[in-house]
Amino acid sequence: MSASVAAALDDLYDRHLKLTEHTDWAYHRLLPWDRGRDFGKAPWDASQGTLPAAVTLAVETAMLTEVNLPWFTAGLVRLMQAAPDALRQFVHTWTSEEDRHARVLDTYLVLSRNGDPDARSRLVQSVVRVGWEVPGDSPFAVMVYTTLQELATRVFYLNLAQVARSADPVLDRILKTIAKDETLHFAFYRGAVAAYLDADPERVGTVCDIVPLFAMPGSGMPDFAQRMRSASDYGGYGLPEYLEQVIRPILRDWGVWDHQVSAAVEAKRQALKDYLARLARAADRVAARRTALAPDH
Ligand SMILES: [Fe+2]
Ligand SMILES: [Fe+2]
Repeated sequence: MSASVAAALDDLYDRHLKLTEHTDWAYHRLLPWDRGRDFGKAPWDASQGTLPAAVTLAVETAMLTEVNLPWFTAGLVRLMQAAPDALRQFVHTWTSEEDRHARVLDTYLVLSRNGDPDARSRLVQSVVRVGWEVPGDSPFAVMVYTTLQELATRVFYLNLAQVARSADPVLDRILKTIAKDETLHFAFYRGAVAAYLDADPERVGTVCDIVPLFAMPGSGMPDFAQRMRSASDYGGYGLPEYLEQVIRPILRDWGVWDHQVSAAVEAKRQALKDYLARLARAADRVAARRTALAPDH
């Protein structure tokens, strides 16, 4: 690895620390404690929910994804063993920031009595038991993946916040607070990948290999397809958003289409173009489905 990449990574990490230095997460001030009631005296039933069912499902799905953090950390630490210092340190800092996401979402759902808390706690256990396998076989490959993941979660939270705002401003604020963390994580990984690409444009080939493999973490959870469909129909996040707000902007930002590459990498780039064309056709079908579902249709 070149000295310029190491220096760029150090700068990115310093910048991350500066930007997060004064973050006031105010976990205790974010949550609606006054809505909490004793489940022994007042058992849960579905009629107590205050959110649209699709919003509850989306918040729960996000929580079930975040809760797998021990496995994300384990996978990243293993893969980053020989990586530059800044990357290894970032994984620690990142873990400390991600750690609050599942907790705040779960506590919100418990306090506001949205969703069945018993079913949810069983789901948490089954999801964490399944764990997560780190995608890619190098720090660079995994960072391509985590960049997509951080941006996808950022867009997911912001779009969901927009849908949730009218139902509960408290939830809106929680989702936006989490999205701020995801934005900074995305910025770090995006910059790290860009530094590696500038040092060796042939790495565009790895980007082309990884992008089609991307799946939202948690794809192993029960009913995941149904959860994603609900998020797409009613939660503001689906294939059209993934394509237009995640994939296309990142590929442009990294200059994937512009780098000078060998014929072998050019072939991978063409394969990625074909993949994106298929994705665009599928996104059109999703958009048509939404139009058909819209209440005034
Ligand atoms: Fe997160
Ligand atoms: Fe994140």
